[in-house]
Amino acid sequence: MAAGNSFFGYARGFEIRDSETIMDIIKCSLSEYYTKSLILDLYRAWPQAFIVYDNFDSVSGFIIGAKYSGTEGRILLFAVKKELRGSGIGKMLLTQELNVMMGSGLSTIRLEVRTDNEDAIRFYKKNGFSIISTLKNYYSDLSDAYLMWKII
Ligand SMILES: CC(C)(COP(=O)(O)OP(=O)(O)OC[C@H]1O[C@@H](n2cnc3c(N)ncnc32)[C@H](O)[C@@H]1OP(=O)(O)O)[C@@H](O)C(=O)NCCC(=O)NCCS
Repeated sequence: MAAGNSFFGYARGFEIRDSETIMDIIKCSLSEYYTKSLILDLYRAWPQAFIVYDNFDSVSGFIIGAKYSGTEGRILLFAVKKELRGSGIGKMLLTQELNVMMGSGLSTIRLEVRTDNEDAIRFYKKNGFSIISTLKNYYSDLSDAYLMWKII
């Protein structure tokens, strides 16, 4: 199902055949370690909230959302291939995720981001998120996270 379009690709729901590409993007873009079975568990928990960006011959980004509470959504994992960042793919994926969450009756969304991840923090601020607090020693290497939040 296409969920959004641009001139060089479109957002659609994750499919099992995308798994290896998603694992490659995770390895290259995110510093935490995630197993394929965790990724598939997240997909099964809320399939509509796992959205990929399809360039027709490959997948170049993805976002995974979850329900944090009855009213709050959470972005769990989000990345775009390095060479394609800054071209609007992230914004399209986030917009589709917010649409899914709003359609499910959620009214706020939260996420955690490394305090030194300046590109991502700038991206989230541009897209209406605010820093709520600092989570000390949040990651496995004991680095800190910002908790960011947005009303949708
Ligand atoms: C956060 C992330 C998903 C955003 O995806 P993206 O496709 O780069 O996002 P967009 O292109 O929609 O927007 C990025 C903004 O930065 C600007 N930008 C320009 N060059 C850029 C570059 N090389 N890298 C990132 N952003 C750039 C864009 O112009 C855009 O600004 P605008 O909205 O004013 O046009 C992406 O940076 C990423 O994968 N980061 C690594 C993984 C990560 O940190 N994930 C988040 C963990 S919480």
